[in-house]
Amino acid sequence: MKRRILNIACIGAGYVGGPTMAVIADRCPDISVTVIDLNETRIAAWNSESLPVYEPGLDEVVRRTRGRNLRFISQREGAAAVAAADAVFISVNTPTKTQGSGAGKASDLSYVEACARYIAEHANGHTIVIEKSTMPVRAADTIKRILATSPHGGTFDVLSNPEFLAEGTAIRDLEKPDRVLIGGEAPEAVEALAEVYARWVPDQAILRTGLWSAELSKLAANAFLAQRVSSINAISALCEVTGAQVDEVAKVLGSDSRIGPKFLKASIGFGGSCFKKDLLSLVYLCEFYGLTEPAAYWQSVQDLNEWQKRRFAQMAAAHAKKHGGVVAVLGLAFKKNTNDFRESPAIDICNHLLAEGVMLRLQDERVDPKAFGEVLVDEVKAGFSFFRDVEEAVRGAGSILVVTEWDRYAGIDWAKLAGQANPGAVIFDGRKVIDQDKAAAAGIKVFAVGQG
Ligand code: UDX
Ligand code: UDX
Repeated sequence: MKRRILNIACIGAGYVGGPTMAVIADRCPDISVTVIDLNETRIAAWNSESLPVYEPGLDEVVRRTRGRNLRFISQREGAAAVAAADAVFISVNTPTKTQGSGAGKASDLSYVEACARYIAEHANGHTIVIEKSTMPVRAADTIKRILATSPHGGTFDVLSNPEFLAEGTAIRDLEKPDRVLIGGEAPEAVEALAEVYARWVPDQAILRTGLWSAELSKLAANAFLAQRVSSINAISALCEVTGAQVDEVAKVLGSDSRIGPKFLKASIGFGGSCFKKDLLSLVYLCEFYGLTEPAAYWQSVQDLNEWQKRRFAQMAAAHAKKHGGVVAVLGLAFKKNTNDFRESPAIDICNHLLAEGVMLRLQDERVDPKAFGEVLVDEVKAGFSFFRDVEEAVRGAGSILVVTEWDRYAGIDWAKLAGQANPGAVIFDGRKVIDQDKAAAAGIKVFAVGQG
């Protein structure tokens, strides 16, 4: 039977659910889209002028669609939306488990399971349930088992439609995706969802696979991307001791069409809510199936990342201790153009510095200082404070550590700031964004990642 999707519900109004549904509503004016979330404060923010997620272009898309065919409601009011939906996306978070079997590695599916129960309880007739959250392979089995308990005799298809958007470029990625992936068993359900995306995505970019391949592809794609960053970061350390330049090496590598130029930017380490979680989930899956060597291989990608963060923190701490004991940290977000600091390298780096007794002066363009302060651990009472301006943040600093590649940092007028920092101050540029000529002219030394 041919199926059509005219009514969509999405559970989870986070960094993925919110922007994804906004773009679907924008591109499909005839489809009604309802985004549901347990968190009522978050829903209120989605309905306000100050959206809970900062993404370039998102405000405009929401302004065009909200109140037209897009609405945000709390889960308390969500039952009717699920009952009316032809398709329900599950877009809640799937964090690393903190207890029970697989703790520290496996993904915690309890929110996903709660969503499946909610859908089972409220769905009506036939509903396509779509995994948007990143799931371990065979998570769909668990969802199907829960849906089968539906008290109203509802019937279901389960699809895997993982999201590949990157934060900071989410709207562009959604509007012009490299590919859309739909994994499923029932061709009618797969085609019904493909028809939604086909409004703006060329058919050859809509990939259809089996359910398990789709689930695994998302984990594997993130692991491959993370592996490229760890690979170039491993090379960056070798550049620093041999006199090679990592940018030059990356350019040479990237011009080989078999390698390609993207994701070869050496850094202070990767962050974000996905890479670490998905690598660990992959490691757990390999271990679960007794694949010891593949597990160790993917674990090493994560270990290299921890090492990269640690060595920067150690360098900055050692230098600052000899020059006044203060470090200015420029950038707290895990990358530019987002207010998200989940798993940001800045967290581990700041906590390492605080444990070393170094006082921190923190600055970011978008991150909420209060929220960031809550993830800092300052047992030795070294102290930390937040500043809006770079000028203020560097006052008295012996080390200036650049953690996020915000555009503004490239334009810093070091001549103006030279008098503010400690006389022996060194910039540790973990993103290679600082104008080194300007810094040198102002008498400030720069140590940049991967620069021999
Ligand atoms: C997403 C994906 O879904 C995750 O699997 C992927 O790996 C990272 O991206 P994201 O949108 O970034 O997660 O998560 P988050 O911003 O935390 O949003 C999840 C939302 O789901 C939150 O607003 C939370 O309140 C909501 N939620 C969670 C529910 O509405 N119901 C629940 O039962 C659990
Ligand atoms: C990632 C994937 O790119 C996306 O497809 C998936 O859906 C979610 O996870 P995201 O985490 O939002 O997206 O950002 P991404 O651009 O991948 O960056 C991840 C981290 O790697 C950031 O900390 C970034 O600064 C770092 N990175 C990226 C590097 O250090 N060097 C690079 O060359 C690229």
